[in-house]
Amino acid sequence: MGCLHAVLFLSLGSLVVGEITNKGWWKDTVFYQIYPRSFMDYNGDGVGDLKGITSKLEHFVDAGIGAVWISPIYTSPMVDFGYDIANFREIDPIFGNLADFQALTAKAKQLGIKVILDFVPNHTSDEHEWFKKSVQGIAPYDKYYVWRDGTVDDDGTRLPPNNWISVFSGPAWTFNEQRGQWYFHQFAEQQPDLNYFNTLVQSEMKNVLSFWLSLGVDGFRVDAVPHLVEVEDLTDEPLSNTPGVNPNDYPYLDHIYTKDHELTYQIIKEWKDLLDDYADSTNTDEKVLMTEAYTDLPNTMRYYDCGVQIPFNFKFIMEISNDSTAVDYKNAIETWLDNMPKTGVANWVMGNHDRSRTASRFPDRADQMTMLAMILPGVAVTYNGEEIGMTDTWISWANTQDPQACNTDPDRYEVHSRDPNRSPFQWDATKNAGFSTSATTWIPVNSNYLVLNLKQEKQDLISHYKVYQALTKLRKETVLREGEYEVKIVNNQVLAVIRTHVEGGVTEKVILLINFDNSVGKTVDLTASSIADKSAKTSVYTSNVQFRTTVGAEIDATKIQLPAKASIVLLSRSGAAHITGSIFLMIFALVIKHFLIQSD
Ligand code: GLC
Repeated sequence: MGCLHAVLFLSLGSLVVGEITNKGWWKDTVFYQIYPRSFMDYNGDGVGDLKGITSKLEHFVDAGIGAVWISPIYTSPMVDFGYDIANFREIDPIFGNLADFQALTAKAKQLGIKVILDFVPNHTSDEHEWFKKSVQGIAPYDKYYVWRDGTVDDDGTRLPPNNWISVFSGPAWTFNEQRGQWYFHQFAEQQPDLNYFNTLVQSEMKNVLSFWLSLGVDGFRVDAVPHLVEVEDLTDEPLSNTPGVNPNDYPYLDHIYTKDHELTYQIIKEWKDLLDDYADSTNTDEKVLMTEAYTDLPNTMRYYDCGVQIPFNFKFIMEISNDSTAVDYKNAIETWLDNMPKTGVANWVMGNHDRSRTASRFPDRADQMTMLAMILPGVAVTYNGEEIGMTDTWISWANTQDPQACNTDPDRYEVHSRDPNRSPFQWDATKNAGFSTSATTWIPVNSNYLVLNLKQEKQDLISHYKVYQALTKLRKETVLREGEYEVKIVNNQVLAVIRTHVEGGVTEKVILLINFDNSVGKTVDLTASSIADKSAKTSVYTSNVQFRTTVGAEIDATKIQLPAKASIVLLSRSGAAHITGSIFLMIFALVIKHFLIQSD
């Protein structure tokens, strides 16, 4: 090729490539977590699968959800139900195969649903080829994991290299006879930690990201990020001195050497750059990173600085409980918003596969949590089943499967077990809630499915699902996409979240009121508390299902009655609208008059 041709080729090339499209698509999107084992079972084996998800994609359109993130679907011995990965590039047969995955993403694309995958970089399964070779000391895999020598005490008992404890309880080290060394695992012993000081490991994991990007995924939820790197000198961790903690349990130590390492942030930044470069060079939509980091606020906010668009905000999971007051909620909300970088977008995570469901954590207050997620500015994140108010399912010790609980004992397992919040999705009132045709399901279906299911909630005039749908619809309005926000406490126990948009002299507000008093009703005067002005027309948009208000009814803003535990969303409009209307009528009358005079 001659020089001129080469120049022409290059410049034409740069016209075609080099643009991330649809930047910021995620900013006002509702994200939804699919726990694939429990979402929809297509092949009738009692465990959910990819074809099941594909068969239900229309549900997301109906519910107003714009993106799904799917917990791990890769080859796995399922010790931690997919979070122990034996091959990062293959689909586990229990879920289907790559062709099924491609069918899923193709249909999602047609429907306008973005697909985010779970990326689990901290560890592999002990059945991963890398680990098997590492055990055998085969280079370069011998240095892919965190291996150390331990000590031997006077009785000849082997002791681990230090006092570190696993998140799943017990020592974070397991001795491997074949290699004659201990390996480190933040989670189950079948989940050996990768060694991120090894640049080969770093490249391997980047290649995994590129592999899935080339299959058209829209981003990644990154698992267990703060645990990625530990100090190399293996210093013992100090005691946390938290009263009442069992010495085997993770909170017994203060994890200053095994969490939030500086290198973690550098790695995350590189992954974000990789995603940007990919979108840039392929002219595709912006790719999104969501980070799962249970850590303190400053360390969480640092993910924004790395370019992460959605560093999960776990305030409603970690700091808010059923005992929290309106003031606690106000603080939780404002702490996030005030500490977020000015260019950042907030996100609100209400639940996930690791936590008790919102309807069980906050009895009679599930809709309130949905309202907060949808009305506060930014991204809303829903865990599957929360849109219909599903509750936890009690599971006996004998039937417990979660390794986090199995590592404990019959007295402690219930506080550790995540099985109850992983029961199958309740689609309808048929066998197994319409989830599976199998005789049994991997976790039992909650017995309340006969009355609590999506089909029923679609038929009911008032239901959790109807509230959810109404709110996702409202999020499309400018007032929720761009409006200012304010959080106030009224009448002591009532939290008010106010979103305001002013345009052409018209002030539009969406007002969420939540009564935190569990036994006493409250009356709120929106005008006295300067939430709405006297000329505003205020109407009911939706309320929690127990409240049963008349949607659309105009309401006297000076005395809004809120029963105990009630939450209500109001629309208020004031300003020049009616004046503009009268001016328009005057002009119209003048034109008609003029026309009549002319035609005389
Ligand atoms: C994350 C996942 C959790 C898993 C753990 C280990 O916290 O959300 O389910 O057990 O990482 O991968």
